Amino acid sequence: MGTRLMMFISAVVLASWVLSAYGAHYHNHVDRKQWEVARNDEINGGARRNKRATDDEDSSPVSPVGDPSDLPTCLLCVCLIGSVYCEEVDPDMTSVPALPKETNYLYARYNKIKKITAKDFGDIVTLKRIDFTGNLISEIEDGAFAKLTMLEELSLAENALVKLPMLPGKLISFNANHNKLKTKGVKANAFKKLNKLINLYLAHNELEAVPAIPESVRTLHLQNNNISTVTMDTFCKSNNTYYIRTNVNEIRMDGNPIVLAQYPNSFTCLPSLPIGRYQ
Ligand SMILES: *[C@@H]1O[C@H](CO)[C@@H](O)[C@H](O)[C@H]1NC(C)=O
Ligand SMILES: *[C@@H]1O[C@H](CO)[C@@H](O)[C@H](O)[C@H]1NC(C)=O
Repeated sequence: MGTRLMMFISAVVLASWVLSAYGAHYHNHVDRKQWEVARNDEINGGARRNKRATDDEDSSPVSPVGDPSDLPTCLLCVCLIGSVYCEEVDPDMTSVPALPKETNYLYARYNKIKKITAKDFGDIVTLKRIDFTGNLISEIEDGAFAKLTMLEELSLAENALVKLPMLPGKLISFNANHNKLKTKGVKANAFKKLNKLINLYLAHNELEAVPAIPESVRTLHLQNNNISTVTMDTFCKSNNTYYIRTNVNEIRMDGNPIVLAQYPNSFTCLPSLPIGRYQ
């Protein structure tokens, strides 16, 4: 947990404490790790606010805050305004923690999670961002993310994946840098239907081919893989010389065996040439 994050959380907790001290109801018992500032509902939405307001009237002091089933996770992690922060959790966190209902953001960086199962996110369809950077994930069950229809950002960077699971359709940013991804494990059309995808990071893997890249992608990182060839259809359309891939802003292919100058017809539709080796 970074010092700055702790300071931010302390400030938010202090501010809410001061504010609530002026209100009719305030929690006079706050479990040290039960930090949840639910009144600021920019993220949580009105339904949650109403529920919370009713709770406050029924019983005061309210402690611990939240659904009892939230407890174990929010003791190990910090739960704050729809976000769950579980970074470098001690004792070691080896699987995905049970998440409070209506979680929007899960930050679970630098733990020892090995596997993600299809049950881990259950019905937490409110998730918008998940960050598993720096774990030991080598296996993800195929349905694990498929139901997360609101998920916009997913980071699986710095893990041990050789293949990718099915990805949900609204992703804007997907990061799988620094894994062990093989071409066999990344289906040619793994990303094809992700028509909102803007950032696709697949650098530092073992890919030998470029998967189909959706039209929406602006930044594509493929550096430090084992790509030795591309075709006219990798980025462009061999049967349409007028086609221009207008959205693309950056393609990195450095650190691959491919000599890009050998494929002059493969980049004609791009606004700028990929970064990489030309001789
Ligand atoms: C890279 O690809 C070539 C085939 O193009 C293969 O022979 C070689 O083993 C691969 N290297 C690694 C490290 O996967
Ligand atoms: C050629 O273009 C048409 C439409 O523009 C497309 O449906 C078709 O799949 C393309 N064929 C190939 C081989 O790419």
